Amino acid sequence: MNDPDQKQEVRAFWNEASCGEVLYLSGTDREGFSSQLQRRYELEPYILDFACFDSFKGKKVLEIGVGLGADHQKFSEAGADLYGIDLTERSVAHTRNRLACFGLKSTLEMGDAEHLAFADESFDLVYSWGVLHHSPDTPKAIAEVWRVLKQGGVSKVMIYHKWSMVGLLLWIRYALLTLRPFTSLKEIYACHLESPGTKAYSIDEAKALFEAFSEVSIHTVLTHGDLLESGAGQRHQGAMLSIGRKVWPRKLIRKLFPGAGLFMLIEARK
Ligand SMILES: C[S@@+](CC[C@H](N)C(=O)[O-])C[C@H]1O[C@@H](n2cnc3c(N)ncnc32)[C@H](O)[C@@H]1O
Repeated sequence: MNDPDQKQEVRAFWNEASCGEVLYLSGTDREGFSSQLQRRYELEPYILDFACFDSFKGKKVLEIGVGLGADHQKFSEAGADLYGIDLTERSVAHTRNRLACFGLKSTLEMGDAEHLAFADESFDLVYSWGVLHHSPDTPKAIAEVWRVLKQGGVSKVMIYHKWSMVGLLLWIRYALLTLRPFTSLKEIYACHLESPGTKAYSIDEAKALFEAFSEVSIHTVLTHGDLLESGAGQRHQGAMLSIGRKVWPRKLIRKLFPGAGLFMLIEARK
């Protein structure tokens, strides 16, 4: 799929506010960036285990979709030979500013995951957290990840998992309670989660997306969003959500549905 209008809508959405900016960024100085970084890894501790920032010292790393730049800061602190892109000037500016505040380095520019401006076989790691499902042509973006990876290089990618508690919550809110119970999850994610056209995948669909890679491991994580333990994202507020927070059966979900998390963590070797 090649839809320039949809790409423009995605860019406009994330140019309004970068991911987490409204909820967690108190200032664009060392203090503001530090407290956002701390809050990020309190809410999403699994990022640290998944990314293994410290193991990429001296390695050539590309991050696609840097957002506010917390993970980018961690790669830079670890001593990676670091490159980063984002579709929006806002995120590139935040990340440049963040790195400058800490005296850190990276080659940062605006860019599109579907058309990476890098030669074949350039990187040891391509990292992308919560990005590729926002791009209209996700298979093309993953083909680009494969292309720019060195032989034996690794990609670490988080994309959204279809069969998640967040999906159920959105379905209750935007399908059941609006008397449209047959609304598909595809439409729910595309219209009500984040940027227009956001997608979510089953594990089998994710395996198919990464079929060109030689080794692929996939697991899902129950997030603070699935458990309604945090601010629910810049689009979601209101009385219904406050009531939901009080009655949501977190213990039961953890016990009975540990695999029903929104985040699908994919590690794939070329
Ligand atoms: C949910 S945010 C995630 C940002 C960051 N990785 C994080 O975890 O906070 C999605 C980001 O992906 C970027 N993005 C969306 N489509 C993109 C594309 N085709 N190429 C590059 N970046 C893209 C957006 O501009 C936005 O900054």
